[in-house]
Amino acid sequence: MCGIIGYVGQRRAAEVLTHALKHLEYRGYDSVGIAVKDGSTITVRKDKGMVDEVSKKHSFLTMGGSIGIGHTRWATHGVPCQENSHPHFDCTKNIVLVHNGVIENFQELKEDVLKKGHKFTSETDSEIVAHMLEDNLKSNSDVLSVMSDVVNKIHGSYSFVVMAGNKKELYLARKNSPLVIGIGKGEMFCASDIPALLPYTSKFVQLEEGDLAVLSETGYNVLDHNRKPTTRKEFSVNWNIEMAQKGGYEHFMLKEIHDQGHFITESLASDTTSAKKLLDKYSRIDIVAAGTSYHAGLLFAILLQREGKNAQAFIASDYPFVAVPTKNTLVVAISQSGETADVLQSIRFVKSKSAKILSITNVVGSTITNLSDEVVYLNTGPEIGVAATKTFTAELAVIYKLMFAKERLSSIKNIFEKMLESESEVKSVAAKLKNVKNAFFIARGISVPIAQEGSLKFKEITYIHSEAYPGGELKHGTLSLIEEGIPVIVIAPKDETSSKIIGNLKEAKTRGALIISITNDENIRKESDISISIPTLDDPVLYPFAMIIPLQLLAYYVSTLRGINPDKPRNLAKSVTVE
Ligand code: AGP
Repeated sequence: MCGIIGYVGQRRAAEVLTHALKHLEYRGYDSVGIAVKDGSTITVRKDKGMVDEVSKKHSFLTMGGSIGIGHTRWATHGVPCQENSHPHFDCTKNIVLVHNGVIENFQELKEDVLKKGHKFTSETDSEIVAHMLEDNLKSNSDVLSVMSDVVNKIHGSYSFVVMAGNKKELYLARKNSPLVIGIGKGEMFCASDIPALLPYTSKFVQLEEGDLAVLSETGYNVLDHNRKPTTRKEFSVNWNIEMAQKGGYEHFMLKEIHDQGHFITESLASDTTSAKKLLDKYSRIDIVAAGTSYHAGLLFAILLQREGKNAQAFIASDYPFVAVPTKNTLVVAISQSGETADVLQSIRFVKSKSAKILSITNVVGSTITNLSDEVVYLNTGPEIGVAATKTFTAELAVIYKLMFAKERLSSIKNIFEKMLESESEVKSVAAKLKNVKNAFFIARGISVPIAQEGSLKFKEITYIHSEAYPGGELKHGTLSLIEEGIPVIVIAPKDETSSKIIGNLKEAKTRGALIISITNDENIRKESDISISIPTLDDPVLYPFAMIIPLQLLAYYVSTLRGINPDKPRNLAKSVTVE
């Protein structure tokens, strides 16, 4: 789960690569490196650390040459260190590559390569490919055909960009890891995602599974998985670079929380016509997703069940081991990135059972879109912060649009605007939580997935242990953890669950918990130590949109008060392309 980039054209490659890597840093930030070719000499500079630090330390911008590749790493094989950073050379330093993915049979391949006398400088699974290319190029100078032979031996996932000292092109391969080509005038780019290339082009081509490609300054060629020349659809995106920048906010996450008021209109404008027809046709609906998208899926399942459907949300990584879909099942895959490996694995499993797939995603041209029968887009612009915020509410918006008449959804924008007014109040609550060691989130009914999302957001960026429960479940075990001062965040809109959640709140309060409620119910407010207000809504099904905003803000402010960068929480990455 790394970010990769390639450039060939007239510009100084090091500048393009360094700049683009900043945008890819959300995919991993254990180490950074670039390789640039000047004449026939390839220079690699790389190190542990983040883009600004490493590029400064190793003077990336002084490197000449107008063709190069770059990488930002999320470590899988080998600790984060200079040796394990990409790009990786072969023994002759004529071949250099960057890789995103995991080579599952690398031990076996490595033994083979070692027997042939190759010397390794890293512990990564990726370096092996540089040596395999070196070997095969001795008898065949056609890099693409050699790459084809080499990648055919790999089990696992990859996107590769390869550069050779004696060639003016870049060579690309893709399977189960994203790789997009950016089309310029007299220059070509490739990257793990579109936003990284937005400063240079708005025209793209998405490679498909098993494709190989060559990029030169004048254009590109693609070979499909049978190694036949093929064409892939070119498309333009209307995201602009502003949309991928901070716009005056201290962090992307804060900007993205605030952007929700604006983008919700675009998400609600998504075309759901065909998807709705598909939903109507099926009585059994399995929803697969991970993390935040799974929480949106949980809410979707509740709404579908209320309509009499046999609906269930599954954690994508486990779906193939617990579910038995048939051709009568509609599988709804939710993934903002459209590249989450766990979700893609579920989809491939579903395809083998002939079930239909409807996907909900933010990224045009992402892998999920190629594997699905029907797609609905979130239309919420690129999300850069690792913590999903605006894409969660966009997922909810699309789900609600699939379920309800549009007139019922017209007040959501106002709800967001109102809730964003609570920012300073939430900030002062955050100050009280910045030193706690544990936190619990409780709710009932349709608010439970919101409590779960609030808890995930909180732990993800504050590094404070937190758990979420349906309030009624506390007394079945978790109550033993409640002691003096432990915050219990109660998500409690005034609805049919109010009389029950107040009982659960009291159970925690009696044991010394600090009760923080997010509510419009006067009785709950009175029982709370601290309370954040929400407006009373005519339509209670819309409360999730009101509840989520203070929870996102709470996580954000506790994180920053603890000196953490919420955009790049430790050990995580935005797009999780490993299983
Ligand atoms: C949430 O803040 C996380 N970044 C994470 O749980 C994320 O939602 C998950 O990895 C799924 O991503 P996707 O929606 O791109 O598939």
